[in-house]
Amino acid sequence: MFEASIDRGLSKPALYGALSKSLESLLEGETDALANLANASGLLAETLERVNWCGFYLLRGGELVLGPFQGRPACVRIALGKGVCGTAAQKRESLVVPDVNAFPGHIACDAASRSEIVIPIVAGGALFGVLDVDSPEPGRFDDEDRSGLEHYVRVLTPRVAWEQLGCG
Ligand code: SME
Repeated sequence: MFEASIDRGLSKPALYGALSKSLESLLEGETDALANLANASGLLAETLERVNWCGFYLLRGGELVLGPFQGRPACVRIALGKGVCGTAAQKRESLVVPDVNAFPGHIACDAASRSEIVIPIVAGGALFGVLDVDSPEPGRFDDEDRSGLEHYVRVLTPRVAWEQLGCG
């Protein structure tokens, strides 16, 4: 049984450091891409507070397609350049959106979501998808969340065999 046992009282940088370490041990020795993404979303959902959705959209056939996630059922396909996910993917830039209602073209999947952060997954010049995290609290994510989740994605990316998922 996996025990994350991350102290939620840690500062954000320490919390994300512990999360990335935890991710390393969770994925160690496992080569199944789907299982690893599923566990990577589970670990975030288990650890991050005030989050109602977290998971992956994968670049397949030129569009983002829903991947492993935790939360309410979500829209399946997002075109590059559309919504927060498609915009972050197209720009290959992390996006922190303090108020989703103020983001032109935001795609509402869970009406409870008020703020959102999206981190693109890029390696060796190829885009594989995005990590998307939503919160019911406005302004939930800041620069420390961005840098912590970017690190989480950097730890994750080389540990996932993206070709198994038809990504890129
Ligand atoms: N809000 C996202 C869509 C995905 S859901 O939040 C799960 C967007 O605007 O791209």
